[in-house]
Parts: sequence; C-alpha cells; structure tokens
Amino acid sequence: MTLAPSPSKQSDLAVEIHGLEKGFGKFKIHCGLDLEVPRGKVTYIMGGSGSGKSLLLKQIMGFVAPDKGTIKVNGQEVKASDRKQLKEVRKNLGILFQNGALFDSLNVYNNVAFSLKEHLRLKKAERDERVQQLLESVDLSMDHAYKMPAELSGGQRKRVALARAIALKPSVMLYDEPTTGLDPLTTMMVTNLIKDVSSKHKLTSIVISHDTHVVFNVAEHIAFLKDGVFKYVGPPQGVFRSPDPDVREFFSLEERHQNLEDT
Ligand SMILES: Nc1ncnc2c1ncn2[C@@H]1O[C@H](COP(=O)(O)OP(=O)(O)O)[C@@H](O)[C@H]1O
Ligand SMILES: [Mg+2]
Repeated sequence: MTLAPSPSKQSDLAVEIHGLEKGFGKFKIHCGLDLEVPRGKVTYIMGGSGSGKSLLLKQIMGFVAPDKGTIKVNGQEVKASDRKQLKEVRKNLGILFQNGALFDSLNVYNNVAFSLKEHLRLKKAERDERVQQLLESVDLSMDHAYKMPAELSGGQRKRVALARAIALKPSVMLYDEPTTGLDPLTTMMVTNLIKDVSSKHKLTSIVISHDTHVVFNVAEHIAFLKDGVFKYVGPPQGVFRSPDPDVREFFSLEERHQNLEDT
C-alpha cells in the first residue's frame, strides 16, 4: 500500500520512476527502470544513441504510456490515458525538445509570449513585463524582442527557446539533448545557462545527453541508461568508483577523447 503525499508537504523527489518497462513488438527498450530525481537539482540522464533516453522523456510527459511501472511528477502519477490528469501534471513540466525549434514566423517576443497568451489572461503591460523578465533570465534584453529567429545566432535561439519553455513557471524542466550539434563554446554556454536558470528559478532540471564532456561541470546527479536499465545512479564523482564495466567504458572512453582533444 502506498500513502498519498500530503499536499502541504512537497516531497524531496520531483520525479519518481518505479519498475518502468516499455517495448515495441519483441524489442524491449526499458526493462525495469527505477529512478528518483531530487528536487531543485540538475540531473543528467545519460546513455548511448538508441538506449531509450528520449522515450523515457516521452513517458514522463505522458506522450507514451509505459507497459508496466509508474512515473510520478510531484507525487502525481502520470497517466497517459487520463487527459484531465495529464493536463494537471503537465502544468508542472516544461520541455526543451531536441533542436529546440522556435516558431520561424514569430518574432522573439511572440515566441516567448506564446504559452502566456494561450494559458494566462494577462494585460499587455503585465505580459510585456513577463517577457522582459524571461528574456533577462536567459541574458537577453528587449532589444532582441522584435527580431525574427533567422536573425539570431544558434546560441541566442537556444536562449529564446529556453525562455519560452520556462514561461509558465514549470517546477520541472526537461531537456532532450540540448547541446547536440552545437560548437564547444555554445555547448558550454547552453550548459551553464541551464544550470543558472535552474538555480535562479529553483527548478528541477532533467537533462538528457550522450555527451560526457560537460556533464561533470554541471550535473548534480547522474543516471546512466544501458540495455534497458540504469547501470549507475548517483553523484557525478561516484561514476569513477563504479565497478560496472559498462559505466567505466561509457565514461572513460569519452574521457579519453577529451584528453586527446585537450592535447
Ligand atoms: N514509437 C516507437 N515505435 C517503435 N520504436 C520506437 C518508438 N520510439 C522509440 N523507439 C525505439 O526505441 C529505442 C530508443 O529510442 P530513443 O528513446 O529515441 O533513443 P535515444 O536514447 O537515442 O533518445 C530506439 O531503438 C527506437 O527505435
Ligand atoms: Mg534521443
């Protein structure tokens, strides 16, 4: 028997995943995932291509239903089949998809204000102020507000996409490969931005990545996915002490690459 969490006391866990299984036909992608995501921290979910990272995110969002097991966000179970409940759960979730595409035909202001207009009845002055604050929290100003996405650099587009994603003040932000395809400098900038925005807005951040270059600088918690299970869950430093050969291979291989690039 599980006790429902008291609404007055928020758990220290933002997301709880227990016994999660998911497959397609005879292909099992998730074979029993257990993960507790600490509130207010930056958690990295890592794993090779095709290991099921994006699929996990889709299940947290309720886009895809698990075959078995449960996912809770802020103590509320995510039920892909229950639209009303899903709407409640999603109020707490923000997501920055892979490539973080903006609406090309909308300027920066309208991109950032998009969900504000959709969900909140704000007066124009209030909305302007919110957009300004959001842009400032990603180190942009109102000078950028009337530019079109095509006029922005790759890094600026990421900033705008992030401002848009946090517009409704989610308590949990999900990022799917936010730095894939970016040059090393922009990667570092975006990675630090995620950390800054998380601490500024007291967000729980879940970042999906296969890139171990930057993870040790920003992650406060790491989960490594391989062969349908988490092979490591814990603090970043603990990775180096893991006896699991898969963990050692995934992280030290990448580390060797980094050393080669550094020399
Ligand atoms: N809707 C789907 N139908 C069939 N197979 C899927 C579906 N979604 C994901 N998969 C498969 O699940 C595996 C994991 O995919 P994904 O989560 O996208 O991996 P990644 O870790 O690279 O993000 C892949 O083999 C993919 O082909
Ligand atoms: Mg993916």
